[in-house]
Amino acid sequence: MPTSSNMQRLITCLLILCFVSPCLCARSTLTTKSNTYNVKDYGAHGDGKSDDSGAFLSAWKDTCGAQETPTLVIPSEGVFLLNYITLNGPCNAPSVNIQLQGKIVASAKKEWIKVSEIQNPNTKGLTNDTSNLIVFSNVTNLSIDGSGGSIDGYGSSWWECKSCGRPTILRFKSCNDLTVSNLTITNSPKAHIRLNSCDNATFSDINIRAPGDSPNTDGFDIYTSKNILIQNSNIQCGDDCIAISDGSSNINATGIACGPGHGISIGSLGRSNAHETVETVHVKNCTFTNTKNGARIKTVPGGSGYARNIIFENITLINADNPIIIDQYYDSYGKSESGALNVSDVTFRGFSGTAAKQKAITLNCCPSGCFDIVLDHVDIVPSTPGKTASCSCNNAHGKSTETVPQCSLSS
Ligand SMILES: *[C@@H]1O[C@H](CO)[C@@H](O)[C@H](O)[C@H]1NC(C)=O
Ligand SMILES: *[C@@H]1O[C@H](CO)[C@@H](O)[C@H](O)[C@H]1NC(C)=O
Ligand SMILES: *[C@@H]1O[C@H](CO)[C@@H](O)[C@H](O)[C@H]1NC(C)=O
Ligand SMILES: *[C@@H]1O[C@H](CO)[C@@H](O)[C@H](O)[C@H]1NC(C)=O
Ligand SMILES: *[C@@H]1O[C@H](CO)[C@@H](O)[C@H](O)[C@H]1NC(C)=O
Ligand SMILES: *[C@@H]1O[C@H](CO)[C@@H](O)[C@H](O)[C@H]1NC(C)=O
Ligand SMILES: *[C@@H]1O[C@H](CO)[C@@H](O)[C@H](O)[C@H]1NC(C)=O
Ligand SMILES: *[C@@H]1O[C@H](CO)[C@@H](O)[C@H](O)[C@H]1NC(C)=O
Repeated sequence: MPTSSNMQRLITCLLILCFVSPCLCARSTLTTKSNTYNVKDYGAHGDGKSDDSGAFLSAWKDTCGAQETPTLVIPSEGVFLLNYITLNGPCNAPSVNIQLQGKIVASAKKEWIKVSEIQNPNTKGLTNDTSNLIVFSNVTNLSIDGSGGSIDGYGSSWWECKSCGRPTILRFKSCNDLTVSNLTITNSPKAHIRLNSCDNATFSDINIRAPGDSPNTDGFDIYTSKNILIQNSNIQCGDDCIAISDGSSNINATGIACGPGHGISIGSLGRSNAHETVETVHVKNCTFTNTKNGARIKTVPGGSGYARNIIFENITLINADNPIIIDQYYDSYGKSESGALNVSDVTFRGFSGTAAKQKAITLNCCPSGCFDIVLDHVDIVPSTPGKTASCSCNNAHGKSTETVPQCSLSS
């Protein structure tokens, strides 16, 4: 029989417990709620050695099949090794959440190719389906929160073989109304994030890191997508921090710290025989530090289509090569093909800082010309004191105001 004072003590204890650990209670109800799917409950080891691809696919199957807004959880206590997985939609619920709290690592090149060749006995090396670490396809209203988590692509096992079909880490195909925030991705074998056929995506607080000399490790590659915003992100890589390519429109990049890397680029465009287009791009409040380029438009001779309505503004340069560059002879390899994409309505406004070389501005357009090019409030000086910056301008029509170095555009 408990005495009344014992009883009192017990009640006090229970009360204290409830006040002290409300999050404990809340969390345990959350994880047992039917709409949360934890990869560990599907057999993921999280030991950094065993292949957890199968467990991720099973957990995704239930997540995507759920009726009520489901959340897929990759928990913090683990390092999850993956080969390559495709997470297909459409899903049943109107929106799907992913919480990446733990670490995902890609398997090494040798193992990756071995698994791909076992699953695809008729193909040597990678196939389309095995050349991405994680693909989301046709998932609408997906939201990924990477707080506390990260994805590493083990690029060092691939980089020495530049001609190998190297994988991308994260690919979104036909994913509309996408939100990705607070995600760290490192050392991709090739591009870190690639978008195809997506409409309405926001990427915030994305941290991308790969060595400056790693081959083709673009931060973002955007194709055939529209209404895309990338904001407040830090991108260090071996190629374009952001490349905006064929079929893209209404793309914004703001608050991006880029470098090392090759800058923020439109293109390259015109490599194929198809009509290629990019329009309505707004890049603002970005910093380029020790990059090979800053604001760049690159088109290949012989292409057709256009790049138009593009604004780069409020850009800070710290020892950047080619801070402003339009290059219509990109990858020309001495080819003298006639014709080029029509580059028009491009504004570079509010640039300041230092350039690594004297030639700070290059507007190298084909004889057919670039039109409505505006330089305004540009102030670039060489990083080396005592030198003067210069501008090289061919066939660029437009105007230049309050710009140093001085450029004479044709009217
Ligand atoms: C998309 O997801 C958000 C947040 O989960 C939700 O409020 C919204 O209704 C969803 N949109 C559609 C079209 O279902
Ligand atoms: C995407 O999902 C829709 C249904 O929402 C379906 O009709 C379409 O075939 C799917 N596309 C792909 C590429 O899977
Ligand atoms: C981002 O993640 C870090 C931990 O990785 C966390 O401290 C921070 O609160 C997160 N930020 C947001 C906006 O979720
Ligand atoms: C874009 O996607 C977000 C996130 O799902 C959603 O809240 C918003 O309504 C969408 N915007 C449009 C114009 O559909
Ligand atoms: C991009 O920025 C422009 C303003 O410069 C705004 O009108 C447009 O809605 C933005 N688009 C996206 C997808 O953020
Ligand atoms: C510019 O971007 C930085 C992040 O790089 C952000 O902290 C700052 O608030 C932004 N400023 C404006 C005016 O948007
Ligand atoms: C660019 O910076 C100037 C001065 O700092 C500011 O007045 C202007 O609003 C900024 N523009 C944008 C689009 O952020
Ligand atoms: C290129 O674009 C400009 C501006 O839109 C236009 O005036 C010109 O006719 C176009 N040139 C060609 C060859 O399409």
